[in-house]
Amino acid sequence: GNTTLTMIKPDAVEAKKAGIILDKIIEAGFDIVALKMKRFTKSEAELFYQEHSERPFFPELVDFMISGPILAGVLKKENAVEEFRSFIGDTNPENAREGSIRKLYGKSISFNAIHGSDSDQSAKREIDLHFSDDEILNI
Ligand code: GTP
Ligand code: MG
Repeated sequence: GNTTLTMIKPDAVEAKKAGIILDKIIEAGFDIVALKMKRFTKSEAELFYQEHSERPFFPELVDFMISGPILAGVLKKENAVEEFRSFIGDTNPENAREGSIRKLYGKSISFNAIHGSDSDQSAKREIDLHFSDDEILNI
């Protein structure tokens, strides 16, 4: 698929890193076709991360994701899902590639600065949770 969903998470927005992260995303060749600041409600965050609902870190994850505004975006590039996961680096910033977003701006596995969809199916579901069709550019 050529489309993925990203969220610059509350830790990176709070740290004033949203601008430089967007710059790197654009520089890396992803086209931004939708973008918005928003704040998750608790039920929206629980729905977004429902696959993790039985995991021990789930309450902490939801509390973190509702702790402040996020910047959600729809990105286009050839092989976008895989390319973007590689671009942002491992879930745990300690294991993330040098120069990756999570290595540069993530503090820990719980506060890891950015999200990228993990499959084409997830991307579609996650884009639908954040954006209506008329909010996404047709390019
Ligand atoms: P996302 O892009 O945020 O979905 O991260 P991911 O796809 O790399 O990881 P995953 O979907 O497995 O987990 C979602 C989020 O839960 C991660 O970004 C972490 O913040 C958090 N998380 C995942 N595994 C752990 C864990 O073992 N411990 C803790 N504390 N948090 C975790
Ligand atoms: Mg994930």
